Amino acid sequence: QTVDLELEAIEKGGFEHFMLKEIFEQPRSISDCMRGRLDSATGRLVLGGLREYVNKLVNADRILIVACGTSWHAGLVAEYFFEEFCRIPVEVEYASEFRYRNPVVREGDVVIAISQSGETADTLAAIELAKSKGAIIFGVCNVVGSSIPRATHAGAYTHAGPEIGVASTKAFTAQLTVLNLIALIVAQKKGTITEQKFHELLVDMETIPAKVEKALKLNDQIKVIADTFKDASNFLYLGRGYNFPVALEGALKLKEISYIHAEGYPAAEMKHGPIALIDQEMPVVFIATQDSSYEKIVSNIQEVKARKGRVISVVTEGDKLIPKMSEFTIEVPAVHEALMPMVSVIPLQLLSYHIAVMRGCNVDQPRNLAKSVTVE
Ligand code: G6P
Repeated sequence: QTVDLELEAIEKGGFEHFMLKEIFEQPRSISDCMRGRLDSATGRLVLGGLREYVNKLVNADRILIVACGTSWHAGLVAEYFFEEFCRIPVEVEYASEFRYRNPVVREGDVVIAISQSGETADTLAAIELAKSKGAIIFGVCNVVGSSIPRATHAGAYTHAGPEIGVASTKAFTAQLTVLNLIALIVAQKKGTITEQKFHELLVDMETIPAKVEKALKLNDQIKVIADTFKDASNFLYLGRGYNFPVALEGALKLKEISYIHAEGYPAAEMKHGPIALIDQEMPVVFIATQDSSYEKIVSNIQEVKARKGRVISVVTEGDKLIPKMSEFTIEVPAVHEALMPMVSVIPLQLLSYHIAVMRGCNVDQPRNLAKSVTVE
């Protein structure tokens, strides 16, 4: 027993929980994920596992992404990225819905299955179904040699290392890294991205680990926010564009480990329902970094303030406007908007972690949840 406890303490590397350790590992896991694959100085971008089938993606009529949970959120970010830079229509499907509804899968469709564990039963079944209809399947998985990579035609590992905490953190940012690399390879081959934009994005990708490192320095500040809102019964997370899936992921993290009811929404959809929930009791987290929808989200913040909602904003460093409208502001380093989810998700992971700890929850093994869901 004592030996087990000591071993566990060593595995946690000085952190109180695996989840916190994994959150703090992200600068390294993201750079591990890019190592040998991307080099902006030479313009080198390779994913060995894709080579044989890459033309299938370049010529795809449509990309179908199948996944569950946090991996599904990574798929949503990828939808924006692939559509913007590769000009290929993308549909992101819950594997469980896809597998049971007799979906239309045509030749010329390419399926990307995303899974940390590589063992999720619904995702595996969705792959088998799409395969039986003749689609080519790419896997984006973390666990080497797991079932999904064995069932796919090709793929790329995320190389995030073992993720022990049930709530996925470093696997998510590694999935985004791999998906961005795939999209950039395809965009360049297809000629749907200018050389200049391609180069800019490679350079920006390489800056992500340092920017995540900087975002992690917000830990103490986020603890204060957690302490203020730890007794809330509800939370709303709002974002637009690339930050919309980040809102979903922030809400999921909070639900999973703190058992606080939280909803993520595209900020503009707020007026079609969630706005009715807003009063002086409601914390609303805005992911409102500098991007093409900045002005729109500023109006959404005003709408929440007018109803006395308590605004917590994640903004780009140096933002002068939103801090004046927010009770709490979290500043993250600037990066191209398509890459922002890898940075803007960090404070949300930390916020849910600290709230859960303050509420006395079992952070690494939340009730009713499993790390990998191998049954339906
Ligand atoms: C479970 C885990 C989540 C994970 C989801 C999908 O619900 O608790 O953290 O996002 O499964 O898992 P996968 O291994 O397929 O990414």
